[in-house]
Amino acid sequence: MGVEIRVEGLTKSFGRQTIWQDVSLTLPAGEISVLLGPSGTGKSVFLKSLVGLLKPDRGHIWVGDRDLPYLPEAQLYETRKLFGVLFQDGALFGSMNIYDNVAFPLREHTKKSESEVKRIVMEKLELVGLLGAEKKLPGEISGGMKKRAGLARALVLNPEILLVDEPDSGLDPVRTSYLNQTIVDLNAEIGATFLIVTHDINTARTVPDNIGLLFRRELVMFGPREMLLSSEEPVVRQFLNARKIGPIGMSEEKDVSELEAEAKQGHDPGKLPPIPPQLMTSDGRIRPGQHAPGAWCAAHGVTPPPGSFVDDLGRNWVEEWPRYVASMAPAGGPPPGAHPGGAPGHFPGNPPPGQQGAGAGY
Ligand SMILES: Nc1ncnc2c1ncn2[C@@H]1O[C@H](COP(=O)(O)OP(=O)(O)O)[C@@H](O)[C@H]1O
Ligand SMILES: [Mg+2]
Repeated sequence: MGVEIRVEGLTKSFGRQTIWQDVSLTLPAGEISVLLGPSGTGKSVFLKSLVGLLKPDRGHIWVGDRDLPYLPEAQLYETRKLFGVLFQDGALFGSMNIYDNVAFPLREHTKKSESEVKRIVMEKLELVGLLGAEKKLPGEISGGMKKRAGLARALVLNPEILLVDEPDSGLDPVRTSYLNQTIVDLNAEIGATFLIVTHDINTARTVPDNIGLLFRRELVMFGPREMLLSSEEPVVRQFLNARKIGPIGMSEEKDVSELEAEAKQGHDPGKLPPIPPQLMTSDGRIRPGQHAPGAWCAAHGVTPPPGSFVDDLGRNWVEEWPRYVASMAPAGGPPPGAHPGGAPGHFPGNPPPGQQGAGAGY
């Protein structure tokens, strides 16, 4: 059911350039976490450090009782098998069709027979909505399909931890929301620990259980989605709400004189927007790592901004949740779909029921 990763005091520099320092966070087992930050803040470097492709200057990455940066080569190789990674560029082999691309890690790292390889490849292609595209070359498919193929390849060795670098980069908003849906559904299906790197604020606001923000060589904050979306911390607030007023400028950070000028003019950072309902699985299943809407706020005495957790149909999911959970109870309860909201998948942020499952082509 996924593995917890505990990062402690991690610091990385290239020559004299410090990329980030003293990063500490825990990726809870089985949950979806997002790492957000402006371009160039070292999000990709962080992912590469997590899988041991880059060596940090100091700090720890605990995967179970193994501290990844200090493992001997053979153990590092073993530990890496726990990870599935989709890098930013997808890195498919251009001369291999989708089937062979996805089969590659199986042929490389296992001794499975071709019929076994086929079973696994087809299963993963189905998971990401790519059945039927096996014979296509990467050059013949859309950007969204390439990401899906990369995702299928990251899944073939049944990872406990899935790292995805900017699934939304280069995709239009429609393809991005279909891919986000696929990621949420995948998490429910395989139960692995997910870390998604993105600079897309909408993805960060609606998909994960936890959010982290990298800025100015530091991890400004990491915690449950509701904690960051209700935070008054200036950088978190500005970034998660896409505001011009705040510490972040066009050239990534504003200089002191700009900030002083803003302060003199008395710019009001404004009210926090409502916390949107979290994206649900398309079949309505509750993910093992999913938190009840409003639970963090309630537990910490935080009043969420007005209108929070209300979906397009005006339903407040803090109120709906207990009934919804009861309707999904597996033993003795009504079957999935018999919940108060109506058709399965008719949830906050989900595509209308008619469009569900439409994945291939996106
Ligand atoms: N292998 C490397 N050698 C030297 N500098 C690097 C290397 N990889 C990344 N960098 C630098 O690290 C910084 C962060 O890069 P990156 O992690 O790609 O940012 P992000 O993914 O947040 O956009 C950049 O300034 C980049 O030039
Ligand atoms: Mg990057």
